[in-house]
Amino acid sequence: MDILDFKKNIQKLAKISDEKISMLLNVVLFDKIDEIKSYGIKGKKRIYIGYNKERKVINRKAKEKGRGVYYYAQDNTFSKQNNKVPEQFVNKIITGDSKDVLKQFPDNCIDLIFTSPPYNFGLEYENHKDEIRWSDYFNKLFAMFEECIRVLKYGGRIIVNVQPLFSDYIPIHHILSDFFRNNKLIWRGEILWDKHNYNCKYTAWGSWKSPSNPYLKYTWEFLEIFCKGDLKHPGRNEMTDITGDEFKKWVYAKWDIPPENNMKKYEHPAMFPEALVERVLKLFSFKGDVVLDPFNGVGTTTAVSKKFSRNYIGIDISGEYCKKAENRIKNTDVITTLF
Ligand SMILES: C[S@@+](CC[C@H](N)C(=O)[O-])C[C@H]1O[C@@H](n2cnc3c(N)ncnc32)[C@H](O)[C@@H]1O
Repeated sequence: MDILDFKKNIQKLAKISDEKISMLLNVVLFDKIDEIKSYGIKGKKRIYIGYNKERKVINRKAKEKGRGVYYYAQDNTFSKQNNKVPEQFVNKIITGDSKDVLKQFPDNCIDLIFTSPPYNFGLEYENHKDEIRWSDYFNKLFAMFEECIRVLKYGGRIIVNVQPLFSDYIPIHHILSDFFRNNKLIWRGEILWDKHNYNCKYTAWGSWKSPSNPYLKYTWEFLEIFCKGDLKHPGRNEMTDITGDEFKKWVYAKWDIPPENNMKKYEHPAMFPEALVERVLKLFSFKGDVVLDPFNGVGTTTAVSKKFSRNYIGIDISGEYCKKAENRIKNTDVITTLF
């Protein structure tokens, strides 16, 4: 729960309540909230302070340098020379194996890659076998992501949405993160996309009521965010389209967004909700940037990119899905923002 938001709502409620209730809300509830404290450091002392007091670290920058920020990526050899994507690929949906398609792209030409690979759960895709040995799965995925790293601009970002297969004890999000860090990308952070799909709670319990082998359940997926060469992505101010309220809300890295409910209509088993793509685009890219989804499915990334004035490139191995992605783009209008 966001306590500051909660406090604001209580204040609103207090304003429209009668005197006694208002006093109760203001005094009793606020006092309780203000009693919430946590540990901080002041000078060399460990102190106990209010939950919303910022804890200042003296000489923070120097300390970061001493520790060695993203030490695993400092010795990268990425070229800083960025290139233009050839016109023939811009604002196109391309059918093919993304590893092969990307081989035709020059180095350093994409601003943002946002994608979700097949998770190897055994879902029913039109032209992809979603159940192979994990070692083969990762070999294929890594070969494709090597191409993604190559085509990403210096200062570009790659954001991968994944859901570990908990029942196989395969932490895909950690394995992929190791891969990107070993390839000298900077881990920028992780977003928990909470889908609140509580029904999954009831499918299996492991050792019911016993600590011998309890089975943990998750209602969220992960978005792992990596940068190539630099945390900063250059762009002009007038090309931003995120509002102050959106920014304030979305930098909290737990996003509550329900799963897409149009999957039946598009006959695709694992689509992004449009709201997820909107947040990623507005928080991590500028209008006019080139956005690539190498596992584009029925084209949520590409349609939302068009809507918010990004250039897009979508690749999928299924011709059927690509046709649907193209239709979605045709039926998508560009939103004009007045800033
Ligand atoms: C999780 S889905 C992505 C869905 C997409 N985010 C959407 O909203 O529609 C993964 C997609 O990867 C595609 N795919 C699998 N192997 C591929 C490959 N080698 N190259 C390109 N696409 C591939 C599948 O056809 C599937 O549509």
